[in-house]
Amino acid sequence: MSSKYTHFEGIKFPSTCSTKSLKFCRDEFVVKNDDVIVVTYPKSGTHWVIETLSLIQCKGDSTWVQSTPIWERLPWIEIEAFQHLICTKEENQTRFYTSHLPIQLFPKSYFHSKAKIIYVMRNPRDVVVSLYHFTKVFKLLERIDNFSEMLEMFSQGNVPYGSWFDHVCGWLSLRENDNFLILTYEELLHDMRRNVDKICHFLGTKLKEEEINLVIKNASFSVMKDNKMSNHSIIPDYWMDHSQGNIMRKGIAGDWKNYFTVAQSEAFDHLFQDRMSKLDPNLFLWDQC
Ligand code: A3P
Repeated sequence: MSSKYTHFEGIKFPSTCSTKSLKFCRDEFVVKNDDVIVVTYPKSGTHWVIETLSLIQCKGDSTWVQSTPIWERLPWIEIEAFQHLICTKEENQTRFYTSHLPIQLFPKSYFHSKAKIIYVMRNPRDVVVSLYHFTKVFKLLERIDNFSEMLEMFSQGNVPYGSWFDHVCGWLSLRENDNFLILTYEELLHDMRRNVDKICHFLGTKLKEEEINLVIKNASFSVMKDNKMSNHSIIPDYWMDHSQGNIMRKGIAGDWKNYFTVAQSEAFDHLFQDRMSKLDPNLFLWDQC
């Protein structure tokens, strides 16, 4: 059922991205120096970081996150229906937005700008489990009912937004840049306070102790799960099968152990070592958080 997807430059995308919107994004979209962009491979904690950034902008006050859909707060640049939200933002306002794009399809203008990127990574084993469930919920994706099949497709990069390995290797090439902050899902789970501090420092924002406490509380899994502006429950039935759950599924690290067989785990370890051998293993300390 690959007809569900838009194919562009050898990668498949959900049909919310058109060839036109992907070309516009790469070739014409103008990134500004003050822009702040959340970049992730799908299912890596994107919504969590968007919620956190939204709350940091409001000093922890939840009025905005409880009243405005998450995709209007930090719209995805590659999604055609959202591009105008970013392009029409008033001149004097810092623009915050999101992208799942691999580096080679990201706006070219970014690479001559001082815009800040927050890149969020997650253990790919948990990413594939999260994606497996999401294919049952989000009707724009090809539904995969067999986990082995999902893992095979993921390992080959035959999934929306392409290979996790290519995405991470591509983006981590910017890791020494001052305007590039790396977060991991596992670190957020382990010590959210430290990470909120890190984000505030990166953005040059100062929050009081009680404001940080509010950010942490209002971006927690339990609060986000009940926030209809963030949990996808307001997305119409023709896009989401709400009987299968929503984006807020489990919110834990290590769920992959309930899905991978020993043989799958060993094969994936080999693949990981093979594909990521050029990068410092200290970048991927998922299990130590
Ligand atoms: P699971 O499916 O493993 O539960 P993304 O936003 O990139 O699509 O990622 C979705 C994943 O992030 C889901 O993982 C979801 O539960 C998790 N998530 C979202 N908000 C979270 C939060 N506040 N705390 C922990 N996990 C969260």
